[in-house]
Amino acid sequence: MNACIRAVVRTACYNQLEVIGIMRGYQGMIENELIQMNSRSVSNIIQRGGTILKTARSAEFLTPEGRQKAYQNLLNQGIEGLVCIGGDGSFRGAMALYEEHGIPTIGTPGTIDNDVNGTDFTLGFDTAVHTALDAIDKIRDTAESHSRIFFVEVMGRKAGDIALWVGTAGGAETILVPEAKNDWAAMINMFRRSPKSFSIVIVAEGDEDGGAYKIVERIQQHLPEFDPRVTILGHIQRGGSPSPLDRVLGSRMGVAAVEALMQGEVNKMVGVVNNQILLTPFGDATSTPRTLNPELLRLVQILNS
Ligand code: F6P
Repeated sequence: MNACIRAVVRTACYNQLEVIGIMRGYQGMIENELIQMNSRSVSNIIQRGGTILKTARSAEFLTPEGRQKAYQNLLNQGIEGLVCIGGDGSFRGAMALYEEHGIPTIGTPGTIDNDVNGTDFTLGFDTAVHTALDAIDKIRDTAESHSRIFFVEVMGRKAGDIALWVGTAGGAETILVPEAKNDWAAMINMFRRSPKSFSIVIVAEGDEDGGAYKIVERIQQHLPEFDPRVTILGHIQRGGSPSPLDRVLGSRMGVAAVEALMQGEVNKMVGVVNNQILLTPFGDATSTPRTLNPELLRLVQILNS
């Protein structure tokens, strides 16, 4: 996100536009936490995780009264357009703000879950995959030395992309994701007969049968001898220095967002599809769930033999 913020600020300055940062998202907009920014405000942030502008959930912005307050603050500062880094909820908020008060927004997709349509990758996804993979490579050492199976739970409340990528890159035995129903008979059979002395199973936290602990418990009901270990990676996946791909993606999206606003675009998300910048209406970006790449799903099956 910081790479994107830096790109937005510097593109605005490059085009002689005044730029104001809004702290803590829509909540900060309501509470008038607006800060004047210039090129120097975003020095030395491209390598930093998180977001210098911070973030917050805002129940108040869901109400017309909250949005009215936010609009008043934007008006007082003479703000004519917004760039919003977020996902589903942020884009819906931006659409409401435009409908009610005519403030145009261009969005960039910021979520580690990679579950937004209209872009091949969202900001933070690649970094999260790197972090999870680094942990899994380390877990593999123990798995092999102790001849153990490990169930590693990765983030993804509604989306299995992190699990899919980490599973493919980490040589997982199988991956369990919210988008696909688990084949319990096949899974139990696999653990009953597997000739392997150790393996890694990746579970997305939002898998329909529950997280890694629940899955293991259920397998143990059929195979009482089954004695795997569970690791939940949790929030380490949300932080850390961004990967080169994320820094470049954030930079490209930030520049494109400001340029789109300058060209009069409204309520669209900047994505990168097939390595090309693409604008997608907010509604299309988030209305339907993103499907998992079927080719990668198939790869995991073929490569675990
Ligand atoms: O929405 C992205 C996400 O990273 C999910 O994968 C995860 O479940 C969630 O955020 C965690 O959010 P919080 O820290 O607010 O519980």
